[in-house]
Formats: sequence, structure tokens, C-alpha cells
Amino acid sequence: MAAAPGDEGGGPPRDSEWPGFFITFEGVDGAGKSTQVAALAGALRSDGHDVLTVREPGETVLGELIRVLLLRPAPAPLDPWAEALLFVAARAQLLAETVLPALMRGTVVIADRFVDSTLAYQGGGRGLDRRSLLALHRAACGDVWPDLTVLLDLPPGAADRRRRDSQLPLDRMELSPEAFHAAVHRTFRELAEADPQRIVVVDGQRPAVVVSQRVYAVAAERLAEVGGLSSRPSA
Ligand code: TYD
Repeated sequence: MAAAPGDEGGGPPRDSEWPGFFITFEGVDGAGKSTQVAALAGALRSDGHDVLTVREPGETVLGELIRVLLLRPAPAPLDPWAEALLFVAARAQLLAETVLPALMRGTVVIADRFVDSTLAYQGGGRGLDRRSLLALHRAACGDVWPDLTVLLDLPPGAADRRRRDSQLPLDRMELSPEAFHAAVHRTFRELAEADPQRIVVVDGQRPAVVVSQRVYAVAAERLAEVGGLSSRPSA
């Protein structure tokens, strides 16, 4: 069931507390996020914006160590809450060390995954209670929400084909059963339905160049709505 913003769906306070602009990309594995993050960063830099890109989990020393723990095939199944807490620990460190200072400097920060991934993978996929995950986000990550989230939508079958075609070794999350990936996909869609103002769904099956044009159009419009970064109130 679609959830109400601010409750099950996650509800950011809409007036950002930073002079920068926070954009996140979400989607199932293989949706093409990293290509689109790079394309958008390039386009916004050409427009004269100061842009920082980050990916989760990782970037900080702690985050990269956690990434190895989370993504390498594990000898025993990870407890779902242990898994969630590790993703959130990496996020808390990334926010404190990198993302929030950049946003406070007026930078456009583009993140490859953020809290919606925890809601979709650990909530939808592993079955953890969404309210508890939201409470954890409030407690550990200061209830920070993006100004804009781009959901690259790719049906599970197509994502599966892309993962196999890439011929790269699959990580621990990618090795999860098909039903897990289907639940993750479904949850992303629910989150987008519950919060259409923040989460814009873009068809990830279109050619990459078409996707990047659409993403740029959305981001440029939102940046214009906030009056460009320089004139944004910082309260
Ligand atoms: P990564 O190689 O970065 O995947 P992708 O390129 O698709 O982003 O691996 C991150 C994996 O971790 C991916 O399968 C999604 C998963 N993940 C979670 O399960 N929960 C989270 O909170 C985050 C940030 C990622």
C-alpha cells in the first residue's frame, strides 16, 4: 500500500536547511545509476555548478570498509538488522564527513543511493519494519532527505538480464533470489507513489542518452525553482 509522506513513505521537511542542492539516484541493481550520475554531474558542471558525486556505501574510510563487509559473499547469511545497521553506519559517516559540509558550502551533491535504498532493500527486500528504519534514519542520520530523488525504473527481468550481460562477478546483494529483487523494485515504486514531489520516476529501459536528457531536464527545472543556488535562503 502506498504510504503517506512523512510516515511510511519517508517525509523530508521541504525547506532545505542548506544552501546547496541534494540529488539522489535510486533503483535496482543494473538500473544504470552510475552512468546517469556521471552524466548529470557533467551537465550541471557545464552550467557552472559546483558538483560533488558520492556513492553508497562508501567514500569515507569507514564507508569503504563497511562496503567490503556488505558486498563480498558472506560465509553465513547476514542478519537483516546487522545489514541495515551497517548501511546506516556508512551513511551517517558519509553525511557527517562529506555530504552535509558540501551542502552547507552551496554544492550540488549527487548521491548514487541513499535512504530509499535502505527502505527498499532492507525494508521491502528483507522485510524489516519501515517505521523502525525511518526512526533509525531520524536518529542516526538527522532525518536528512534529498531535495530531489531520481528513481531509474527497471523491471526485475530487465535488470536481471543487464546484470548477467555485464559478465561482472555478482556481489552478495546481487546474488539474492529473484523474489528479493522483485520486492525491492516494488518498494521503490511504492515510495515514489507516496512521495511524487520528491521522487521522479524515469524509465530506465530507454537508451542512456534519452534517460540523461530527461534527468537533466528535471534537475534543471528543480534548481531553477529554488532560484539557482546563490539566491537560496540558507535557513
Ligand atoms: P553497488 O555495487 O554500489 O550497487 P549499485 O551499483 O547497483 O548501486 O552495491 C550496493 C548494493 O547495496 C546494492 O545491491 C544495493 C545495496 N544497498 C542496500 O541493500 N541498502 C542500502 O541502504 C544501500 C545504500 C545499498
